[in-house]
Amino acid sequence: MIALGNDHAGYELKERIKKHLEEKNIEYTDYGSFDTESVDYPIYAAKAAHAVADGKAEFGILCCGTGIGVSIAANKVKGIRAACCYDEFSAEMSKIHNNANMICLGARTTDTERALRLVDIFLSAEAAHEERHLRRIKMLEDIENGLL
Ligand code: RB5
Repeated sequence: MIALGNDHAGYELKERIKKHLEEKNIEYTDYGSFDTESVDYPIYAAKAAHAVADGKAEFGILCCGTGIGVSIAANKVKGIRAACCYDEFSAEMSKIHNNANMICLGARTTDTERALRLVDIFLSAEAAHEERHLRRIKMLEDIENGLL
């Protein structure tokens, strides 16, 4: 299950991503927003991020104008590692090195075909199991818990 969230700027890209996921028989839940009317991105980023953090979805995909606002918002939710990705390498490495559980895309920064490629790369990449990466992910939890 994939959790989707967006603001008005990311709405059309999110709709295109939904079609893409449907073609691949990947299930998703759409946490809105549901049209191009101006809205506040933290609301929808938080809804999708909570779904991932609570285990209702394995991964999340967030879209806004730049991907930045939704990534900042999502990363405030405990357990979320949201990566704002503009290219194939960052999409792949966000999973391999950072075990990101959400990818954030910018509808005004990344063309649609590339955004769909980044989704595919992100969803298919596997987190590395080397000790140094696991240690660093654990340190992210330490920050959340006020230990670092
Ligand atoms: C909306 O105009 C825009 O500010 C928003 O989509 C996003 O880019 C914020 O980070």
